[in-house]
Amino acid sequence: MEAQLLMDNIEREILSNRLRSWILQAGKIIREKINDPLVVSTKSNPKDLVTEMDREVEFFFASKIKRFYPHHLLLGEEGYGHSELNKTDTIWIIDPIDGTMNFVHQKQDFAISIGIYHQGIGEIGYIYDVMNNNLFGALRGNGAYKNNVKLPSLEKDDLSLDESMVSFSHRWLMKNNFVNERTMQQLVRDVRGVRSYGSAALGFARVAEGALDAYITMRLEPWDIAAGRIIVNEVGGITTDVRGKEIGLLERSSVISAHPAIHERLVKRYLRRAIKRGVR
Ligand code: IPD
Ligand code: CA
Ligand code: CA
Repeated sequence: MEAQLLMDNIEREILSNRLRSWILQAGKIIREKINDPLVVSTKSNPKDLVTEMDREVEFFFASKIKRFYPHHLLLGEEGYGHSELNKTDTIWIIDPIDGTMNFVHQKQDFAISIGIYHQGIGEIGYIYDVMNNNLFGALRGNGAYKNNVKLPSLEKDDLSLDESMVSFSHRWLMKNNFVNERTMQQLVRDVRGVRSYGSAALGFARVAEGALDAYITMRLEPWDIAAGRIIVNEVGGITTDVRGKEIGLLERSSVISAHPAIHERLVKRYLRRAIKRGVR
């Protein structure tokens, strides 16, 4: 029953308000413990870090969902979710700390990222820049907000590449197995500026607020993308894989999330030429 109710505007509003207050609570806990000694371990490779805080934050949300929305499904990076997922149900997709390397080394520029999908459609997205206390949020069809201020639509502005700020990893400028570095070097020459922040969620949030005009990456997991694409979509930005194709809800994928005036140009002129076989 709960799943159907999500589509109801009032229920969706209640859920969104609840989630917002949980995110603010979780953020406060993180800030209070930010200088505590950290136990850092690695996951898929030596650069893929995880801390007790990542697990604690995901557990915090998993417990709330279980109590308040026992029929909803959860996909969480740290494994507190369900193993069987059904796209037609209501699914919460959670990255408890996106930008763990920043969390460990810089104690800033990381985010809590949560997207809620119903029957495969993104209904609610939140990205919380914890240390700056900036909450980006969107309800499908209602626009996107930074704290309580509505973000302007990107659609009314035209934008050329030479006045664009884009974000991608410096690794794509070195010889590598995924992209032709020369095409990416040309992209650096053609745009106004390149930034790399180390948090996918904050990449999306910055596209939504117009601080970045494109965020490009060759491999993200569903929890990196779930909230961001809902928020970017609400301001008229476009999110696809680097070939320009739609990304499935539960897929690992490359991503370009961009201002609508430059998305197609970036895909056609640079990314389709740059990508090597094996990049999804
Ligand atoms: C990572 C960050 C990073 C991106 C990686 C992600 P995590 O998430 O978003 O910016 O380049 O692909 O895995 O591991 O810190 O949650
Ligand atoms: Ca992440
Ligand atoms: Ca994470």
